[in-house]
Amino acid sequence: MLSSLSLLGLIAYMFFSLGHAANSTIYNPIFPGFYPDPSCIFVPEKDNTFFCASSSFNAFPGIPIHASKDLQNWKLIGNALNRKEQLPRLAETNRSTSGIWAPTIRFHDDTFWVVTTLVDDDRPQADPSRWDNIIFKAKDPYDPASWSIATHFNLTGYDPEPFWDTDGKAYINAAHAWQVGPYIVQAQVDLNTGKLLTDWNIIWNGTGGLAPEGPHIYHKDGWYYLLAAEGGTGVDHMVTMARSKSLSGPFESYEHNPVLSNANTTSLFQTVGHSDVFQDQNENWWAVALSTRSGPEYLHYPMGRETVMTAVSWPADQFPVFTPISGEVSAWPFPGPSTNATISPDSVNSLAPEILTFSASTPLPAHFLHWRYPNPDHFAVSPPEHPNSLRLSPSNINLTALNGNYAGPGGQSFISRRQQHTLFNFSVDLDFSPAQLEEEAGVTAFLTQNHHLDMGIVLLPSRENSTALVPHIRFRGESYVPVPKEVVVPVPDEWRGKTLTLGIRVGNRTHFEFGVGVKGGQFTTVGVGGNEVVSWGFTGTLLGVYATNNGKGGTTPGYFSNWRYMPVAQLRE
Ligand SMILES: *[C@@H]1O[C@H](CO)[C@@H](O)[C@H](O)[C@H]1NC(C)=O
Ligand SMILES: *[C@@H]1O[C@H](CO)[C@@H](O)[C@H](O)[C@H]1NC(C)=O
Ligand SMILES: *[C@@H]1O[C@H](CO)[C@@H](O)[C@H](O)[C@H]1NC(C)=O
Ligand SMILES: *[C@@H]1O[C@H](CO)[C@@H](O)[C@H](O)[C@H]1NC(C)=O
Ligand SMILES: *[C@@H]1O[C@H](CO)[C@@H](O)[C@H](O)[C@H]1NC(C)=O
Ligand SMILES: *[C@@H]1O[C@H](CO)[C@@H](O)[C@H](O)[C@H]1NC(C)=O
Ligand SMILES: *[C@@H]1O[C@H](CO)[C@@H](O)[C@H](O)[C@H]1NC(C)=O
Ligand SMILES: *[C@@H]1O[C@H](CO)[C@@H](O)[C@H](O)[C@H]1NC(C)=O
Ligand SMILES: *[C@@H]1O[C@H](CO)[C@@H](O)[C@H](O)[C@H]1NC(C)=O
Ligand SMILES: *[C@@H]1O[C@H](CO)[C@@H](O)[C@H](O)[C@H]1NC(C)=O
Repeated sequence: MLSSLSLLGLIAYMFFSLGHAANSTIYNPIFPGFYPDPSCIFVPEKDNTFFCASSSFNAFPGIPIHASKDLQNWKLIGNALNRKEQLPRLAETNRSTSGIWAPTIRFHDDTFWVVTTLVDDDRPQADPSRWDNIIFKAKDPYDPASWSIATHFNLTGYDPEPFWDTDGKAYINAAHAWQVGPYIVQAQVDLNTGKLLTDWNIIWNGTGGLAPEGPHIYHKDGWYYLLAAEGGTGVDHMVTMARSKSLSGPFESYEHNPVLSNANTTSLFQTVGHSDVFQDQNENWWAVALSTRSGPEYLHYPMGRETVMTAVSWPADQFPVFTPISGEVSAWPFPGPSTNATISPDSVNSLAPEILTFSASTPLPAHFLHWRYPNPDHFAVSPPEHPNSLRLSPSNINLTALNGNYAGPGGQSFISRRQQHTLFNFSVDLDFSPAQLEEEAGVTAFLTQNHHLDMGIVLLPSRENSTALVPHIRFRGESYVPVPKEVVVPVPDEWRGKTLTLGIRVGNRTHFEFGVGVKGGQFTTVGVGGNEVVSWGFTGTLLGVYATNNGKGGTTPGYFSNWRYMPVAQLRE
């Protein structure tokens, strides 16, 4: 007869072997491309759904929100910052590293809260006007209009998160930038008004790494666990933790920090840090973090800082153990979809191709991005004079604009999507008959106003006769590192007046190739550029189209159609 003890042992054995058999595989990154500083929550009250928010810097719409019911199929459900009236000042930030930094998303009181910072990186660290700290809230994150306008609060710092203690009092934890900081600070705040109810108190100085930032506090087993990022967002990036019996500290550092980092490894996945953890309905813990697929050489990472996920085991009374980040992470079984249908994955987070025809009945997708606020008059979907196209009227400013500064009230005629695959083909058809000097329309691989590779059709004086203006194909770049030599060639006579196809192809880890041809005909390579030109800083490459008069006043629009983003390969190791 089986004793009850051995029966229990057998059940335990079956459970664990089943658990092992049912281990899932996380394919990283879960949000490929420019989705840094992830913050995620599990919301049982909203039909067992996971929601995540990411940084967007100067991109608009900003603060992308993803949702999933099974941690495998994710959908970009919208953007928390989707109307200029919510935060007019994004129009005026200077520098490429400005804009929305590190939102934290939380659910409390039947409301979604996103707390973040609009940074104007041109101003001194100690200048309060450099850090515009803000709170957005929504009842229905699927509805763009549900997201509130920004409520501002005073903090000379960044990376804020809301935290509600067991007594219901609301706090904000953040990185403070004054003096020789950053430090992790905390204040009690009225989240509805932004009014500070206490001073900011330093609660942790980190473990000695550069820039302790991105704090998140979790209350578990009578402890307040404080998680932060340290080491800066480059290859020394790491996740460290401390804990206290009291919310206000003192916080004691964990003796085995960092809890997560790929520093000093040879992994393709580097710069792992800026994490957030959450628990599913089966009580399994998970973590998201940012990572760059750069390898330790850290030279080629055009997609910038992407969102990765891993499994976390968190025994009672102990610090959590994170499975290190790699391209394929063996993890707990994914939570099954609940009674409700799973959230269908969208093409932007899969290997599905994206083919857009810009028909009158289809709005631009939620993942389409401008740089700061667009001038709405400069964009038209399926205009009457050219149905099934996207009309871009030229901005005076080109993609370089004022050296990374804001484009002024005329905006920048640029629209794009993220590069989300290591290898891909991107192409678009263009109808464009420039009539004035320097009118230009084309395609770009754009990281910031100071980092981009462009190929456009531009009206320039003829080489043979400088008083005659003829359309040229121009390939040129802008970066802090050397850019490929400019290429300027006249559009062949037999191509004049025809629809052209402009394309960007990436067939290896290191280069972009720009080409053009008559629609349906042969494709000619115009320029090749190394992707180190767009491997820099905080953002990730956007692939898109632009129209500009290069400051010369022209108004001839370009008509773009037949937009095709074709994923070819995703490098995971
Ligand atoms: C941004 O820079 C421009 C000039 O480069 C300046 O005129 C403007 O005042 C600056 N704006 C802000 C908000 O700092
Ligand atoms: C922030 O500080 C400024 C200057 O001290 C003050 O005028 C303003 O009312 C404060 N804002 C909030 C939301 O407390
Ligand atoms: C953090 O560092 C500051 C400045 O060195 C010091 O005044 C403060 O006591 C430290 N705080 C903690 C919580 O360790
Ligand atoms: C990486 O190596 C350097 C040099 O040995 C060391 O100082 C640093 O702590 C290491 N970083 C991590 C996260 O292990
Ligand atoms: C299953 O996933 C858990 C959580 O990541 C991990 O601890 C365990 O080693 C995995 N098991 C296998 C067989 O890979
Ligand atoms: C399914 O999800 C929708 C949207 O979140 C919700 O309104 C509905 O109540 C859910 N249905 C069930 C059966 O949970
Ligand atoms: C256009 O781009 C060039 C090269 O990047 C830059 O030097 C110039 O200032 C820009 N002009 C305008 C009007 O944006
Ligand atoms: C140069 O171009 C102008 C403008 O198109 C034209 O009027 C002129 O005849 C041309 N000159 C020659 C030598 O072809
Ligand atoms: C990568 O592709 C570009 C053309 O797109 C080519 O010039 C370059 O030589 C290739 N690099 C390698 C290592 O194959
Ligand atoms: C991408 O372009 C290459 C080169 O023209 C071509 O061989 C390949 O079939 C294309 N792949 C897709 C998925 O469009």
